[in-house]
Amino acid sequence: LENPKPEVSHPHTQRILDQAAALLKDGQVVGMPTETVYGLASNALDSVAAQRIFKAKNRPQDNPLIVHVSSLQMLRSILKDNTIPEVYTDLIRTYWPGPLTLLFPRSSLIPNEITCGQPMVAVRFPSHPITRALISTTGLPLAAPSANSSGKPSPTLASHVMDDLQGKIPMIIDGGQCSFGIESTVVDGLRVPPAILRPGGVTYEQIRQVKGMETVQVYKKHFTDAAMEQAPTTPGMKYRHYSPEAEVVLVEYVGGAGSGAGSSQATTGQYSAITKEIDRLKQEGKTRFGILRTSFDSALQSNSSLQADGVIEFPLGQRSKPEDVARELFRGLRFLDSQHVDCIFVEGISEDDEGLAVMNRLRKAASRTISSDTTEFL
Ligand code: TXA
Ligand code: MG
Repeated sequence: LENPKPEVSHPHTQRILDQAAALLKDGQVVGMPTETVYGLASNALDSVAAQRIFKAKNRPQDNPLIVHVSSLQMLRSILKDNTIPEVYTDLIRTYWPGPLTLLFPRSSLIPNEITCGQPMVAVRFPSHPITRALISTTGLPLAAPSANSSGKPSPTLASHVMDDLQGKIPMIIDGGQCSFGIESTVVDGLRVPPAILRPGGVTYEQIRQVKGMETVQVYKKHFTDAAMEQAPTTPGMKYRHYSPEAEVVLVEYVGGAGSGAGSSQATTGQYSAITKEIDRLKQEGKTRFGILRTSFDSALQSNSSLQADGVIEFPLGQRSKPEDVARELFRGLRFLDSQHVDCIFVEGISEDDEGLAVMNRLRKAASRTISSDTTEFL
């Protein structure tokens, strides 16, 4: 396994930020690190620059962009009546700067290309020092989707951005590995009741603790809503997402009370479910398989490599630490894809805390799900 540790950040001098800011002011796009995933930034007030983002990513034209700000003054400047709705006061106080995106009525300064014609604009105040410094050096709000080719897993390393967009964009700022590794939570606080449109870095459990957000709705596992499926306003409902080249199979833990931890027969379950499936695929002529593991302690798995039976394992961390799984998830999908496996099995986790965002991304990445009644999870 290459690069198991986060890359060391390069020293980021003002000179680099100035260079990036000059490109952005000139209407170009720049790859930038954030605390969630890498973003592909452009001047949010420039419709031609926004079009460059859609082109570089090959992004569907009806999927709106998040605008990034580095101050509340900058936020007000792009809002209807230059006013922050009161319902957001406590959310902003508690979770900004950070991995939380909020929907606001926009001012006419925000071009249609950013919101895809909708009256609401999604805004985030990132906490990553480089992102903030880049926004304030440029002096402009920056539109930025994740810096992957549309449909691919989001990038959590600068090298992932290179893999997808090299030759299509003039500059990528390398800030090392993203600390959350999964995108921001998107909240529409102006609906009644408020809704989490996309689970992410700030958890449902955290948001509903905030004054005014007690009734916040979130769509969990068996969410299906035809209207939502049609609506491009709802993050990630419409398009194929997070998909590497290989087929992704989600392995869901369905163990009930009778098969809980501590059972003395903890020997089959997930392993046999995956092993059985691998045997079947081998008969179809498939030879290489990847497994994103959440069932082992990473320390025990540090020597993951191609094993004799054609299986490569990549540890995502323990299922009891969903924040670790979130950080490694996209890197793991991209790593196994680079190993040209035919099929990637991912061990699912529970939907608590960061686990909700992890499972949301996995359900979008997976083309099918198999169940396991394993008791072998740690
Ligand atoms: O963490 C993040 O949010 C990262 C970093 C770069 O900030 N950005 C990101 O952008 O994930 P993107 O484009 O990959 O996802 C943004 C999601 C989209 O699914 C989009 O549908 C939703 O936010 N969105 C953007 N503007 C919206 C709007 N006006 N109304 C509803 N949803 C919106
Ligand atoms: Mg994205």
